[in-house]
This record gives sequence, C-alpha cells and structure tokens, in this order.
Amino acid sequence: MEKYREPETIIEMQNVGIRYDQGPEILSDIKLSLKKGSFHFLTGKSGAGKTSLLSMMYLQQKPSRGSISVFGKNINFTHRDGLAMLRRRIGVVFQDFRLLDHLSAFDNVALPLRVCGMDEREVRKRVTELLSWVELSRHMQDTTATLSGGEKQRIAIARAVINRPELLLADEPTGNVDNDIAPKLMKLFVELNKLGTTVVIATHSDKLINDFAYPRLHLQDRSLHIHYPSEISRLGGRHA
Ligand SMILES: Nc1ncnc2c1ncn2[C@@H]1O[C@H](COP(=O)(O)OP(=O)(O)OP(=O)(O)O)[C@@H](O)[C@H]1O
Ligand SMILES: [Mg+2]
Repeated sequence: MEKYREPETIIEMQNVGIRYDQGPEILSDIKLSLKKGSFHFLTGKSGAGKTSLLSMMYLQQKPSRGSISVFGKNINFTHRDGLAMLRRRIGVVFQDFRLLDHLSAFDNVALPLRVCGMDEREVRKRVTELLSWVELSRHMQDTTATLSGGEKQRIAIARAVINRPELLLADEPTGNVDNDIAPKLMKLFVELNKLGTTVVIATHSDKLINDFAYPRLHLQDRSLHIHYPSEISRLGGRHA
C-alpha cells in the first residue's frame, strides 16, 4: 500500500504583521498554511487587508515582522533574482489589472508565454483559444487602453492563467464583469485547480462564496480566521 504523503505546503506564514510607513499594523500575527492544490476565498470588509495579504503572497511586499515561505523558500532571505524566479510560478489578477495599456489584448495575454520562449505558433493557438473562451475574440487586436473595465479584467484573468501557474492569486477577479460571465470565469479557476494549481480568490461576492463550497480566509480586526464550508452553511450559505 502506498504511504500517505502530506501535500506540499505552498504558502506558510508565521506571526506575520504588516504596516505601511510608520502607521499601525493593518494585519497582525497572521498564521497560515496553504497546501498544494487547495482553493480558498479571501474575504473581509473593504480596507480589511485582502490586497495587502495577497501582495505578500505575490512577493511584492515583505512583512513588517514574522516569516513567509512560498514554494518552501523563506522570502525574508531570498534575493531579488530569486524572488523573480518564484514569481514566474505565480499567476496574479490585480485589483487594478496592471495591463500594458499600449499593447493589444493579444500581446498582453501572450507575454507570460513569450517570456518562457514558447514557439510563436503555439502562443498564437493558446492565446486565441483563451481569448475566445473569455468572449474577447473581437477585441484581440485592440490596445487595452481602449477597452472597458470588464474587458480589461477578463484580459488580466487570461494573462494570469495562460501558462497554468502553480499558484493563482486573484484580487476581486469578477468585480467588474456582468453577472452572466462571472460563473464562466470561476469555471476557469476551478478547472485550473483540478489540474493542480493552488488558488486564492479575494472577493466581496456572497454569491460566489455561497455557490462554491471552498473554505474562506476571512480578515477581520487585523486577524485571519478560517471558515470551512460546513461552518459557512450553518451561517446561512448554499453550496454547489
Ligand atoms: N500603499 C499603501 N500605503 C499606505 N496604506 C495602505 C497602502 N495600501 C493599503 N493601505 C491601507 O491598508 C489597509 C488595507 O488595505 P487593502 O488594500 O489591503 O484592503 P482590502 O481589503 O484589499 O480593501 P478593498 O476591499 O477595498 O480592496 C487600508 O486601511 C489601506 O488604507
Ligand atoms: Mg483590495
């Protein structure tokens, strides 16, 4: 019989605190261990610290105290080049998109594949297919500066998932899209998760949280609380 192996830990936080400049801590004593292949929502009121927590997971921000390991590497002791290499394994959908506005939708989504040196014919095939899935075929050659908020958001999502990252961090990824396309985008995250990607999605949407039975990392009063689906249903949620 095969021996049970504990899944790999993708993100580990110990006593993490973060503050901006000399201000008070906005998150304190955060302890967290995310296993490979897990899927979590990240919730909390506006200003609770969701984007700040994600920015540490994305290695953009170091904690003011405590330690963070990502893919088994303690980021407090990892230099810039090392951080850049780790970042390549992470797909991010930023709350403010951060697209390259002078490039076309196609070129924005193609970027992570071209960085890896993928054959251009394969790039064309994959990007065309994914942009069609997110219903943006007709805007493929438009520069992103000319597109709407919801269209930019779908491009940001396509760019984050195109190279099947090991870790996907999405900050309010369905905040700007119509209700009918939000479940389709969720499906993209769920499919990616089935292929092994560890997923964290910050959201304000009760509908998303209630429709998908995933645990919730909830930020309140500077602390992190984990709610599991059965607990959430007792609090009145509905689960798929
Ligand atoms: N770069 C920064 N400099 C100073 N303060 C900041 C900075 N970024 C965030 N903050 C402060 O940290 C707190 C948490 O902000 P954060 O953006 O992480 O919240 P959030 O949960 O993502 O909110 P929202 O739901 O509105 O996106 C807020 O009080 C915010 O004003
Ligand atoms: Mg935010």
